[in-house]
Amino acid sequence: MSAGSGILIRGGKVVNEDSSFLADVYIEDGLIQAVGINLPIPKCGRVIDATDKLLLPGGIDTHTHMQFPFMGFQAVDDFYHGTKAAVAGGTTMILDFVVPHKGDSLLEAYDKWRSWADPKVCCDYSFHVAVTWWSAKVKDEMEILVKERGVNSFKMFMAYKGVFMLHDDELYPVFCHCKELGAIAQVHAENGHLIVEGAKKMLSKGITGPEGHELCRPEEVEAEATQRAITIASCINCPLYIVHVMSKSAANVIVNARREGKVVFGEPIAASLGTDGTHYWDKDWRKAAAYVMGPPLRPDPTTPGYLMDLLANGDLTLTGTDNCTFNGCQKAFGKDDFTKIPNGVNGVEDRMSIIWEKGVHSGKMDENRFVAVTSTNAAKIFNLYPRKGKIAKGSDADIVIWDPCAVRTISAKTHHQAADFNIFEGMVCHGVPLVTISRGKVVFEDGILHVVPGDGRYIPRKSFAEYVFKRIRQRDEVCEPKPVQRKPYQGEIMPQCPTAIPPNDGRDLHQ
Ligand code: URP
Ligand code: ZN
Ligand code: ZN
Repeated sequence: MSAGSGILIRGGKVVNEDSSFLADVYIEDGLIQAVGINLPIPKCGRVIDATDKLLLPGGIDTHTHMQFPFMGFQAVDDFYHGTKAAVAGGTTMILDFVVPHKGDSLLEAYDKWRSWADPKVCCDYSFHVAVTWWSAKVKDEMEILVKERGVNSFKMFMAYKGVFMLHDDELYPVFCHCKELGAIAQVHAENGHLIVEGAKKMLSKGITGPEGHELCRPEEVEAEATQRAITIASCINCPLYIVHVMSKSAANVIVNARREGKVVFGEPIAASLGTDGTHYWDKDWRKAAAYVMGPPLRPDPTTPGYLMDLLANGDLTLTGTDNCTFNGCQKAFGKDDFTKIPNGVNGVEDRMSIIWEKGVHSGKMDENRFVAVTSTNAAKIFNLYPRKGKIAKGSDADIVIWDPCAVRTISAKTHHQAADFNIFEGMVCHGVPLVTISRGKVVFEDGILHVVPGDGRYIPRKSFAEYVFKRIRQRDEVCEPKPVQRKPYQGEIMPQCPTAIPPNDGRDLHQ
């Protein structure tokens, strides 16, 4: 340690997922060089006083869609505005989604998303890749993505029928391949067939407004798909990650599966933890439309508190935002038909404050669990730990100086996102990021951003994260079914009747 030109953060309380302790932190060359008491003052660097403040590992948002071309529009938060807003809120890494169309090359889509992100990102990032169709080419490209592009997570849609949706007989081989490659299978769990039928029904009743969006896809549509995905994954002993858990019913399915010992992780998002679906019934169409996302927020106003309880006690594991923002004029494309409202809400800037307010300030979780669900568990699942998700010597210097006592009011008027609406408008939150340090650089301080587009890096991730695959590997070894050893059957065998329906030979008779 040269103690030369770096940053010394003095007098703060370091909070990791497993412990909190008073210590100075010295940062140089983008890394944490030392954590300890009374560290020497750098000769020509800077000192930041963090007395009475917390030092948290930078937040990791597991689920964003910056500048996503979706439902005929492009999300307004691009990789610049989105990551700028992220660091203003205390998040120093995002995991965004590459989403190829059916028939498209996954590799070409990955390259396209990289070309969008690399020049614009203001913090580190990585990619999940969506598998929206299945073929030998997709299989090969998944392998290249894992082995040569640092992708260790693939998302499959069970909704958006005809666009992104996979059927069960496609989910099965994709899950198998994910497991083989040591990548985690993620699902958007909603029954796409039922949504299409439900939407037709609502429109035929003259329900064309945003309330129709929730009514056509009630909780059980999410819960059914969640259960189905878990069942398929369980048949293969494949670890599974349920993105954007929005309802009590879906969360309960995850709770039960985990109680049965299944390797399943649930990701509630800032929206499902911080607000609810009663807004779909708002008389102001623009406001109601702002909350339209899939799966929808739920009209039961006790849902956010319930999901937060599960997050606090370990039944749900980590948090993202599904940040995918469309402005009022884009949402208005669906003014006469809710199925045409582009789906998506904000969250990347406010996730940390929302979870602090509703989780820590409320007394549901402590500061260490907060770190686990906003950063460390993501780092473990996506194989970034301890490079990310921890304040320790050798880790990336992604640190937030957090004031647990300060208060801020969320508003679209003051947020840093490009979106013209904030679904948390007016919410008063304790827990404010004072300084955000991204790989050793102060990128946000006292309300002022110091970001440079393109300063963030793409972070490749290795396959077979121990946190996910240790149990899987062991179960495969010890739980392998074995045939019963019998003497050969010696009795009579009747020939098949030629007019009887033949046994299914594996073909899908529906196609
Ligand atoms: O409404 C949403 N969630 N928009 C983004 C796409 C997705 O399903 O995650
Ligand atoms: Zn989704
Ligand atoms: Zn999403």
